[in-house]
Parts: sequence; structure tokens; C-alpha cells
Amino acid sequence: MRVTGVIRCVLPLIMLLGTWFIVETYFDQRWKVISLRSWLGVTNKPRSQQLPRHKCGNEKSCPQNYFAFKIISGAANVVGPSICFDDIILMSSVKNNIGRGLNIALVNGTTGQLLKADTFDMYSGDINQLDTFLGEVKDGTVVLAASYDDVATKMNDKVRAHFMELGSSHVKELGFRDNWVFLGVKGLKNKSPFEQHIKNDKETNKYDGWPELLEMEGCAPRKMD
Ligand SMILES: *[C@@H]1O[C@H](CO)[C@@H](O)[C@H](O)[C@H]1NC(C)=O
Repeated sequence: MRVTGVIRCVLPLIMLLGTWFIVETYFDQRWKVISLRSWLGVTNKPRSQQLPRHKCGNEKSCPQNYFAFKIISGAANVVGPSICFDDIILMSSVKNNIGRGLNIALVNGTTGQLLKADTFDMYSGDINQLDTFLGEVKDGTVVLAASYDDVATKMNDKVRAHFMELGSSHVKELGFRDNWVFLGVKGLKNKSPFEQHIKNDKETNKYDGWPELLEMEGCAPRKMD
């Protein structure tokens, strides 16, 4: 009898607390005054408060005198590439300044400011335009490049030489519909550590006719005089 009596008292209390908890969970804002959830230590912090956001949405923050960057290649011939530098999207589908082929942004390596952004059709465009564009790049300029669809059909030795001068190791091997992301600097004596290349290969392609997209993020040192 006594056990039943205790259950008779406790059960409604448990149900009341349960209902309170559920109501608070779904009708969150109005029950601030006497909040069971906060009393129990259950909090709904927005995601942004839990994880600090880094420049360009990168996983890590960059030390002082480094620029955060993120370069994403196109996906097949469907999703366009994007280039972020120092937390600013320089090129993307939304900005409507990308195109099939090579997408290139030039940034002042001292100030981090955008100098130029252009796109070069490497399948049927005039390769001399890219040759001229790269020929005019001044020392200390950061060059960010992202592939979209095809980067190799019109590629020639003069353009390859320009990219090698910027620190590229893979430009020599670029083939039809390969993906490529690259960050180089004019006047850099060494090879750039910021380069990724994936071959178009029927056996390993993610998409029908194209490899998986490439995504590269990191911190590029500011040019100090
Ligand atoms: C970059 O900006 C600095 C400071 O304004 C300037 O002196 C330099 O000439 C610029 N370099 C390039 C490559 O534009």
C-alpha cells in the first residue's frame, strides 16, 4: 500500500516535470523566468558561439602577417570554383566572375588587396590572352588559380613556364579535365607548397568524365619589405 502511495505521488510529479521540459524545448523563448532547462544546465547555444569562425571559413586561424586563403576547384562542368583571400570571396558563381577553364585572381602580396580577377577558357579560348596576363604580373604578386571543367586543351609551354616561375610543380602534367588549385607568388625562389592536382581518370573519377573537386586552404605569408 505504501509503495503504491509513493508512486501515486511521484508519478504525476515526474509527468509534470517531463511536460515542462518538453514544452520548454519546443517553445523555447517564453519560459525564461523559471527555466527548468537552465536549472538542469541544458543550453542551446548557437553553433557560432560554440566554434570560433576563422577567415574564409577555414579550420585554423592564421598567425599575424599571414593571409588566410581557400581555393576550391569546379566540380565537373556543373559547380563553379571559388577563391577566398583574407576572408574576401574574390571569385565565385555568386559573384558571377568565373568561367570554364582557368580562374585567376591577382593579389598584392604586401597589402592583400585584389589587383585583378579574370577567367580564361582553356578549351576553346585564345591562349595568348593568358600568356599576356601572366607576363604582366609584377614581383610580389600572389596568384591564385582554380580549374573549372578543362584547363589543358589550349595549355602551351609559354603559359606553363609562367606558372613554373610562380612556383608550380604540377602545371607540366596538367591534362584534359584534370582539376588543379594553386597559389603562387611572382619572384618566389622555391616551389609553392600550395598546389593540388587530381588527374581525370575513368577508374577513379567521382563524376562521369571528371575527377573529384579539390579544396585547399592555408595561410600565405605576407610579403615584408
Ligand atoms: C603593393 O602595395 C604596395 C603598398 O601600397 C606597393 O608599394 C606595391 O607596389 C604594390 N605591389 C604590387 C605588385 O602591386
